[in-house]
Amino acid sequence: MSDETLANLSHEERRFEPPQDLADHANVTAEAYDEADRDRIAFWEKAAERLSWDTRWDTVLDWDDAPFAKWFVGGKLNVAHNCVDRHVADGKGDKVAFHWVGEPDDDTRDITYGELKDSVCQAANALVDLGVEKGDRVAIYMPMIPETVVAMLACARIGAPHTVVFGGFSSSALRDRIQDCDARVVITADGGYRRGAPAALKPAVDEAVSQCPDVRSVLVVRRTGQDVEWTDGRDVWWHDVVEGASTEHTAEAFESEHPLYVMYTSGTTGKPKGILHTTGGYLVGTSYTHWAVFDLKPETDIFWTAADIGWVTGHSYIVYGPLANGATSVMYEGTPDTPHKGRWWEIIEKYGVTILYCAPTAIRTFMKWGKEIPARADLSSLRLLGSVGEPINPEAYIWYRENIGGNRCPVMDTWWQTETGQLMISPLPGVTAGKPGSAMKALPGISAEVVDDEGEPVGNGRGGYLVLTEPWPAMLRTLWGDDERFKETYWQRFEKQGYYFAGDGAKLDDDGDIWLLGRVDDVMNVSGHRLSTTEIESALVSHPRVAEAAVVGAKDEQTGQAVNAFVILRESALEGGEEAPDDLIKELRDHVAKEIGAIAKPKSILVVPELPKTRSGKIMRRLLKDVAENRDVGDVTTLADSGVMDQISEGISSGK
Ligand code: WTA
Repeated sequence: MSDETLANLSHEERRFEPPQDLADHANVTAEAYDEADRDRIAFWEKAAERLSWDTRWDTVLDWDDAPFAKWFVGGKLNVAHNCVDRHVADGKGDKVAFHWVGEPDDDTRDITYGELKDSVCQAANALVDLGVEKGDRVAIYMPMIPETVVAMLACARIGAPHTVVFGGFSSSALRDRIQDCDARVVITADGGYRRGAPAALKPAVDEAVSQCPDVRSVLVVRRTGQDVEWTDGRDVWWHDVVEGASTEHTAEAFESEHPLYVMYTSGTTGKPKGILHTTGGYLVGTSYTHWAVFDLKPETDIFWTAADIGWVTGHSYIVYGPLANGATSVMYEGTPDTPHKGRWWEIIEKYGVTILYCAPTAIRTFMKWGKEIPARADLSSLRLLGSVGEPINPEAYIWYRENIGGNRCPVMDTWWQTETGQLMISPLPGVTAGKPGSAMKALPGISAEVVDDEGEPVGNGRGGYLVLTEPWPAMLRTLWGDDERFKETYWQRFEKQGYYFAGDGAKLDDDGDIWLLGRVDDVMNVSGHRLSTTEIESALVSHPRVAEAAVVGAKDEQTGQAVNAFVILRESALEGGEEAPDDLIKELRDHVAKEIGAIAKPKSILVVPELPKTRSGKIMRRLLKDVAENRDVGDVTTLADSGVMDQISEGISSGK
């Protein structure tokens, strides 16, 4: 974070008080902070009462084996029962769980809680018939369709942890994840709709699974009707085995700490981390925060998280939190500009959406498209807005508030991570006077601090590292199959104090409110998606023409950060002048898309003669970032060869 940005942030003086009407009827008042301060454990114990438990817990938190937490020890529950069956039993079977909106116009489905229950039971029975047992892992690689939710809940119902892989990831990324968690069954679709056309998914599964000999079944939903290759004995159609299955299935109660899912996320090394979430604490954390931060009134609200289920935001706030709370949600399959740039606003008007939760990168895109587009729709149903995934700059916050929220909706800037499972730092809509750009304070029951290198609190007005000082219910339990990496990544940095190291920089303002400043490690945030510099570097060097690569995330107006790559080519790469650099650059970008996914494609790739390295051989990405952000290059005295930066700069100015 540059000093300039820090200075700009501290000049932000605007405050927005909670709307009176909202405050008068808010689910959560300021008292919640006091209550949690008095007794954090009792606070979460009360939150756990929101769920239906088969067996009550005897210990709220067991932290004896820190950092391996156990929450609600001795308790047993079934997640699918909590998300579906109990609402049906409460007489809400006819209530809509999802207004599903497909990307093609008029391709919509309303799914009631009753219908969802039947489908989940059918899918659970089908999975059992395919031999899936409690504890087995199931990979899910799907578009944004109702069957994706059904598949997740069916897994949860039978105690088979799922790992949902974002449909934009490549077959190699899918293969690595299937192998890492040893999934034996994959659930997918022929394809999904994306930008007005069917986008295939099944070929990527076929390719991935050809290298996963232990996968015995691939369950395929027919969504687009496109042709698919078929492997007899392995592939089965969803409509053959799920839709004909019995709608009766008795849900078994599982221990609180039974694994619910593994979600892979980029870390600082090339290998993605399998974040493990478990049953009881996760559902307590997501359902409480969904109710508290979005002030959810299940009877009247129409809630919309405009994110993909393949990310944690979709897991916690499209699927588990909202369903545990019996909410009615919108779920949209496609892109915001298909078939036109007003699609989101049309959806909000049509369904009377009251709460919208999305990412700053989307907001900045809408800003670019112009305020007249949302102005054409009636957005008066909205009463609350949320933001997630990256820092929301004050301009985007104000634009969102004014042009989408009609100046009446408070904006909840929610900070959290795949690892935290639940919202952690956020305003409370009936309590907080929001500041544009600040995520404000740790939620009740959560303890965050900003510390220096020694782990000492920096105090108001200062910046440092964001840490979480106490365990919380939806926290990750470990990294799948790698307890050591779990300890090293999150707990070693401030081992003495026992703090969780989030990997984000943050600043406390003079009031003690928190401003997030971005990652402090080699993780980039592009359009709210986490990407690892090392992972993209490995993808680049796996191309035969690349000798070395360095990747940095440089500031980008629209996507927050953009991937900028610097590559050194192998001697032979340009021999004989047989290949124009433009073609090669395209080839390299496509290669990264193939290895990881289109989201990881570098925005720019610069061919350089050398990379700046320290005497110990470490690439100084900081300097490359200066180049990518058009700044004067900082201190180069620690470079092994200080002439390198001149060569790189010359390369840029000569347009190479
Ligand atoms: C960033 C997404 C600032 C942060 C839920 C974090 C944010 C990473 C915010 C987690 C926010 C998320 N303000 N930064 N409101 N929300 N981040 O795991 O760097 O995909 O560490 O989880 O996104 O990304 P992840």
